[in-house]
Parts: sequence; C-alpha cells; structure tokens
Amino acid sequence: EKGGYEHFMLKEINEQPKAVADTLNPRLKDGKVYIEELNMTDEEIIAIKKICIIACGSAYHTGVTAKYIFEGIARIPVEVDLASEFRYRNPILEKDTLVIIVSQSGETADSLAALREAKKRGVKVLGIVNVVGSSIAREADNVMYTWAGPEIAVATTKAYSTQLIAQYLLAIQFAYVRGKISDIELEEMIRDLKRLPDQIELLVNNKEKIQKFANRYIAAKDIFFIGRGIDYAISLEGSLKLKEISYIHSEAYAAGELKHGTISLIEDGTLVTAVLTQEELYQKMISNMVEVRTRGAFVLAITNEGNTDVERAADYVIYIPQTNKYFTNSLAIIPLQLFGYYVSVGKGCDVDKPRNLAKSVTVE
Ligand code: M6R
Repeated sequence: EKGGYEHFMLKEINEQPKAVADTLNPRLKDGKVYIEELNMTDEEIIAIKKICIIACGSAYHTGVTAKYIFEGIARIPVEVDLASEFRYRNPILEKDTLVIIVSQSGETADSLAALREAKKRGVKVLGIVNVVGSSIAREADNVMYTWAGPEIAVATTKAYSTQLIAQYLLAIQFAYVRGKISDIELEEMIRDLKRLPDQIELLVNNKEKIQKFANRYIAAKDIFFIGRGIDYAISLEGSLKLKEISYIHSEAYAAGELKHGTISLIEDGTLVTAVLTQEELYQKMISNMVEVRTRGAFVLAITNEGNTDVERAADYVIYIPQTNKYFTNSLAIIPLQLFGYYVSVGKGCDVDKPRNLAKSVTVE
C-alpha cells in the first residue's frame, strides 16, 4: 500500500502535484473561480467584515499563511486562532464574521469544539476538510473539501498543501467579488495556480540533493527557521515538520524578532534555514542572514529563481520557481518537508508514526 515507497510520508510528498491539481481544477471554470460548496451569494461575500480561521498544528499554519492573502488581496481582516485557545478567550463574533475551520481529519477535538462554539453564537461556519463525512464536515454549515485522498503519515504533507490551495481559491474569489482585483489580475493568478502542480513536481524530483544536505544534520541539536511575512508562516511549518519526526529541537522565528531572543542561541555551525520569497522583504532578510552568519550560523536559503545574489549571505541555496508572491509557500514547503523527512530517516526514527503523536487528536 506504500506503492513502492519506503514510507507513507514520502509517498504522500510525491502525491502532492496530483492532490493540488485535484483540489484546484474542479474550482476553475472559464477563467474564473467557482466554489459552489461555499453557498454564499455575492452580497453575502461583500458583507463579510471579518474572517476567523481556526485550526490546530499544520492546519493552523495554513491559516497563518491565508491571513496574509485574505488581507493582502481581499482586504478582509483576518484573525487566526489555535482551536485550543479560541473558545477560552470569549472571542468577538459578530453577524458578518465568517468562521473557517481547517482540518485534515475533520475529527480534531479542539477544532470541532471551536466549530460548535461559533455555531452556538450564530455565526456561519465553513469547514475546509479532507475526510469526507467526518464530524467537522457534517457539522459545518458548508464544506469545501480538499481532495488530497487518504493521508496516513502523522506528519501532514499533501493535506497541508491542499489546505493552502483551498484558502487561495477563497481569497481570490472574495477579492474578485469585492472588486479588489481586476480581470487581468484574476487571469494571472489563475495561470500561476495552474502551474503549481508541475512546479511542485520539479521540487519533489530534487530529493536526492536535499537528502545529501539533510544527512549532514542528523546530529544537530537545534535548528532554526526564519522568515518574514508569509515566509514566517512557512517557517512555522518547516520547523514543525522537522521536530515532530526527527526529535531535533527547532524553532521558527519571525526574522526581525531574532535579536529579541533567539539570536543568543546561535553557535558555531548552527543551521538556520532562511526563507526569502518576498521581494519587498528581501533586503531585510539578507541583513538577518548576515547577523546570524556573523555569529557562526550555517545558512540555508530558500528563495526564488533569479535571486542569485543571495549567495553572498548564504552557505547553501535552494531555488524555487517563479510564482505569484502569495503562492510561494506552496513551493517553499517542498524542500522543507523533504528535509524533515530525510533527517528523520537518517536518524532511524519511526517516520510515519513518531513517538507520542497520533494522526488525529480526538481529545482536548
Ligand atoms: O486533522 P487535523 O488537520 O485537524 O490535524 C491538526 C493537527 O493535529 C495536525 O496538523 C498535526 O499538527 C500534524 N501532525 C502536523 O504534521
């Protein structure tokens, strides 16, 4: 059932081009985005005053990414909450708030409890769910399925990637209906979305290079991930992927926040993974990379093709293909998933079933 792969995780990493295409294609028609399951009229979309995205773990990380996109292109304020925190802070939910619950399993206890809390307060809930017919799918007012197929490995990869796609589609649809993007911008975004599966495939095929690199870090004590804007969101996910399956301590930091804490932990040879895909934040990131490098860090940079001058501030570089600036997480995550995977394999860990973790967390 592993289809010739050594682990489910590697199989699922390889299934991402298809999972992304399957989630995307049914919602693109005649050069437009159609999300029938949303069941919202244009008037209702225009009336949205706030979006609350609620989830756990990696699904929460997709919400952190989505916040930048909903706010950036649709200009709708977004709050992102960990489901385990949401209910206990007496959240302000008004009539025109849209709650989005993101969950692969559809059974995560805290996410389900958050859904119930939102419904109790009379707010409309949209589920972004992978498992058809799961509790969250059944209880949400509307469900947008991610079509990743069954995910077995505890560390999510393909479900994560499809959760991003679902939220890109929503943000684009909301932006278009609210008159925040033009027909040409819409066309360009759709063109870039359609290119993602092939671009992801290209990055997945680069696995030997990542494996070699990962093998150098099997004995690492700490690894840091830094980024700004949506590259900070991807750093959170890269860090979780690594630590949950390799048991190496790792932290994600908004790069500008380094000097307020973590920089004191950088020693000679500490690996710092810097993601820099955003043009307007590029120079700031370079400065942060120089800061850690001066203190002995080994810097792995993940950046867009063409940014070759990054090599003056990095020790090792992975380039990702060009895409819309809001979609770069879908590409930058691939080398980070592979890195976590190969470090775990190299250490001889139980990749698909890391200790103390369950695929679906059904207790609060
Ligand atoms: O099934 P869910 O998407 O609700 O699960 C949420 C988290 O438990 C999950 O993403 C977890 O963080 C993964 N193990 C991360 O790889």
